[in-house]
Amino acid sequence: MFFSVPLSGKAAAVTGATQGIGKSTTLRLAKEGADIILLDVKQDILAETAKEVEALGRKAVALTANISNRDKFAESLREDAKTLGDLNIMVNNTEICQVKPVLDIESAEIEKIFNINVQGLLWGIQAAAKIFKEKGTKGKTINACPIAGQGTGVLRYYGQLLLPRYRRHGHVGHDRQAPGRNHRRRRGCDLQKIC
Ligand SMILES: NC(=O)c1ccc[n+]([C@@H]2O[C@H](COP(=O)([O-])OP(=O)(O)OC[C@H]3O[C@@H](n4cnc5c(N)ncnc54)[C@H](O)[C@@H]3O)[C@@H](O)[C@H]2O)c1
Repeated sequence: MFFSVPLSGKAAAVTGATQGIGKSTTLRLAKEGADIILLDVKQDILAETAKEVEALGRKAVALTANISNRDKFAESLREDAKTLGDLNIMVNNTEICQVKPVLDIESAEIEKIFNINVQGLLWGIQAAAKIFKEKGTKGKTINACPIAGQGTGVLRYYGQLLLPRYRRHGHVGHDRQAPGRNHRRRRGCDLQKIC
C-alpha cells in the first residue's frame, strides 16, 4: 500500500499532475479517498486529468500555475484549499530535466532549471506550510527528487559538474535543512522525499 490509512476526507495538492509520476500519484491519492488540487502549467490536460479524479468519486480542482512564480502559486493554492475546505498533503512533484553536453549549455537553461527545481520546490514547501500553520493542520509534504539529487547513478556527473548549486542547495538540502524544520516538528507536520 502507498498509504497505510484511507485518505477519505483529506485534501491533497500535487504539482505536475498531468503526466508521469505526478498523474499516477494524483490518481492513487484519489483512489485512496483524497480530494485533489491538481497543479500544472498545461491547462487543457489539467481539465482532462481532473475529470479522471472526479470519475473516482473525488472532488478535483484544476489549478493552472507555474511553481516558479512564488506569490501566484501560494495565493492560488490557498484559494483552492479553501474550495476543498482544507489541505492535508502537499506533493511537490514537478521537476524539469535536461541532459546536454557541457559545451552546449546556456545560462538561461540553467536559470530555468534552478527556478523550477530548486526555487519552485521551496515555494511549494512554503505555500503548504503557511496553509498548515493557518489552519493548525498536521500536514504532510512529500518532495520528489531526481536521481541527480541523490548523487548516484549516471546523472551524478551531471549534478556534480553542471549543476553544483543544485546539488549543494537542491532537494537533498531542502529535505534535511528546509526552513522551519523544528517548527514543523512541533506542529506535527512531516516532510519526506521520494527519489
Ligand atoms: N521519471 C523518472 O524516471 C524519475 C526518476 C527519479 C525521480 N523522478 C522525479 O519524479 C518527478 C516527476 O518525474 P516525471 O518523469 O513524472 O516528470 P514529467 O516530466 O513527466 O512531468 C513533470 C510535470 O511537471 C509539469 N511542469 C513543468 N514545469 C512546471 C512548472 N514550472 N510549474 C508547474 N508544473 C510544471 C509538466 O507539465 C509535467 O506535467 C520529478 O521530480 C523527477 O525528478 C523521476
